[in-house]
Amino acid sequence: MSSDISRLRKFVSPEIIFGSGARKTVGNYAKTFGARKVLLVSDPGVEAAGWVDEIEELLAEQDLPCVRFTQVSPNPRVEQVALGAEIYREHGCNLIVAVGGGSPMDCAKGIGIVSTHGRSIIEFEGIDRIESPIPPLIFIPTTAGTSADVSQFAIISNQNEKLKFSIVSKSVVPDVALIDPDTTRTMDAFLTACTGVDALVHAIEAFVSTGSGPLTDMHALDAIRLINTHLALLVEQPEDNHLREQVMLGSMKAGLAFSNAILGAVHAMSHSLGGYLDLPHGLCNAMLLEHVIDYNYISATDRFRVVAETMGIDPRGLSQSQIKRRLMQHVISLKHQVGLYQSLADQGVHLTDIPYLSQNAIKDPCILTNPRKSNLRDVEAVYEEAL
Ligand SMILES: [Fe+2]
Repeated sequence: MSSDISRLRKFVSPEIIFGSGARKTVGNYAKTFGARKVLLVSDPGVEAAGWVDEIEELLAEQDLPCVRFTQVSPNPRVEQVALGAEIYREHGCNLIVAVGGGSPMDCAKGIGIVSTHGRSIIEFEGIDRIESPIPPLIFIPTTAGTSADVSQFAIISNQNEKLKFSIVSKSVVPDVALIDPDTTRTMDAFLTACTGVDALVHAIEAFVSTGSGPLTDMHALDAIRLINTHLALLVEQPEDNHLREQVMLGSMKAGLAFSNAILGAVHAMSHSLGGYLDLPHGLCNAMLLEHVIDYNYISATDRFRVVAETMGIDPRGLSQSQIKRRLMQHVISLKHQVGLYQSLADQGVHLTDIPYLSQNAIKDPCILTNPRKSNLRDVEAVYEEAL
């Protein structure tokens, strides 16, 4: 019997502690990993919200000193990774805790890589480029969307070249993810909307990805259902802890799905867009989603039909093009319900930017698992549709 290795699937995941209060186990975990001194990575907003103080106190209760590095911007940059790695080495740290959204978590992954290898993070772009084990990573997400706390991706921005690049390696899957819905209480409505739509895109792209399979499908579909049912309600009722927990669970499952099945054209194109204009990642995805569905549908009709059904659309008696139209309308109306109306043009994208954006998007690893094989002209056409 011949075997086809392209059909094999693997599944990597951190140890996950999920639920209200999960963050409070950080000291125990750090101790278990033999921490002597912890680099605590975050950003100014999360610090102002009080989460950094709390994590520092929890570490102190276990007699673990830490040094803070909170100079991380949205779309974390090459220079910030280098600075964090310098602080890590200078202070003799041996473990990294990140508390925050995707930016501090991705930056923390970069710091781990650079502190071990002593070379610029730029050299690790691509798939499986990390040679040596990096320090233990304990991540506490404060947004429900990016899932850097469970994924094997780190996305870093190179502002000199105005692009974002992806590092994909199981070395950057954190050792422990403490996923605590309480920490998302400090998100405003816009951040809840952007990160929630990012999670929905993770789930949809993972489900239609050429890398999808039985290990990820269940997580992807569950995530679509959870986010579709609860996200708009959460934006309306931010005090509701049950809604908060369900969206966090959806985000986590979307993360497990996309980390292992990889993503598609929405992310390839949104990485390029986010690097060029320094826009929020979730917003970039939101502006592209229905246009990529329109483009991809023909190459994964059975899969998109299941996505539509999972979002509450009854496909019986509908033609393929009617299902596609209904799904696109549903996605647009979900975005509107959470307050996202933006288009590429009103965010400052011009027709003349599209060739540059497309050249970078076509080089992004996420394009490789897009269900429809895409060339430069295809990507340009989808950007043009989204303008
Ligand atoms: Fe994303």
